[in-house]
Amino acid sequence: MQVRALKSGCVPIYNNLFLAPMAGFTDYAFRSVITPMSVGLAFTELTSAKGLYYGGKNNEKLLKTDDYDRTAAQIFGREPYFMRWACESEYLKYYKIVDINMGCPVPKIVKNGEGSALLADIKLAESIIKECVKSGKVITVKIRSGIKAGDDIAAEFAKMAEGAGASLITVHGRVREAYYSGEVDFNAIARAKRAVNIPVIANGGIFTEKDADIMMERTGADGVMIARGAIANPFIFSEISGEEITGDITTVKDFAIQHLKKEAEMSGDKRAAIEFRKFVNYYFKRVENSKTYRAEIMQSVSAEETERLLRKYL
Ligand SMILES: Cc1cc2nc3c(=O)[nH]c(=O)nc-3n(C[C@H](O)[C@H](O)[C@H](O)COP(=O)(O)O)c2cc1C
Repeated sequence: MQVRALKSGCVPIYNNLFLAPMAGFTDYAFRSVITPMSVGLAFTELTSAKGLYYGGKNNEKLLKTDDYDRTAAQIFGREPYFMRWACESEYLKYYKIVDINMGCPVPKIVKNGEGSALLADIKLAESIIKECVKSGKVITVKIRSGIKAGDDIAAEFAKMAEGAGASLITVHGRVREAYYSGEVDFNAIARAKRAVNIPVIANGGIFTEKDADIMMERTGADGVMIARGAIANPFIFSEISGEEITGDITTVKDFAIQHLKKEAEMSGDKRAAIEFRKFVNYYFKRVENSKTYRAEIMQSVSAEETERLLRKYL
């Protein structure tokens, strides 16, 4: 695919390869190690606007970054007031780009009318975007191609979002019912791309450079967003861009150890070992017969011990 710089509103974006928001995964530790490896824009985990308003205890942690040029904050909620408040809050003070989640399929979010529930209420979605735009932040929106099989609302939604003042839109080419599996609807993304003049980023099912090429070819999108493929292979962005990565990280083992160290700096030795467990299966994907190694790492209760095991087995 053609890798190039982009603009979201007036904000320049380093390149058109985006690291997707992933709750529980794209925390500061993971982002800070992967972003310099040719990621154009990374997203925080989804963060509740209402949670920010009421001062939830994890807010600072969820929104921590030291790279405001290459990180967007993602927020979710259904009340335009709280959403704008969040954009204008101290929490997001240094963020230039704020992304609105309109795609999350998780029942506890949908049942509150948030995330992908907004796909069924285009008027409310429009009010939320308009209100957030008034904050002066550059607003982007992440949607899905629909709610149930056969839906294709991405073009209509993209048009609405552009009219409401959004500067970029990401389309995950799967409907809510599909969660994270099944075919990606390239046509829905392509129609959204053709419907608007703002950049459209295509998301879903990209695990290799070839997948990115196919996605770009089939959709005509301006860039790609990668979620699970980036955990399975943190080098996917530099493989696509061809950018030479300077520094000490040349293998998955190096990456995993740096990631663990960052996690330990952020959360402490014990917590880091626990947080790290969910990444272990991804990092060991290419290691044959790794079941017992992975099981041993899963038992580790300190980052120091986890590091020792990573050095031994990965
Ligand atoms: C564990 C997990 C957590 C996710 N959390 C978020 C999130 O916080 N916000 C969001 O917009 N999408 C979230 N997603 C969806 C991804 O951003 C992405 O749209 C989806 O995984 C499809 O991309 P992929 O096929 O490259 O994985 C999450 C996905 C996964 C697997």
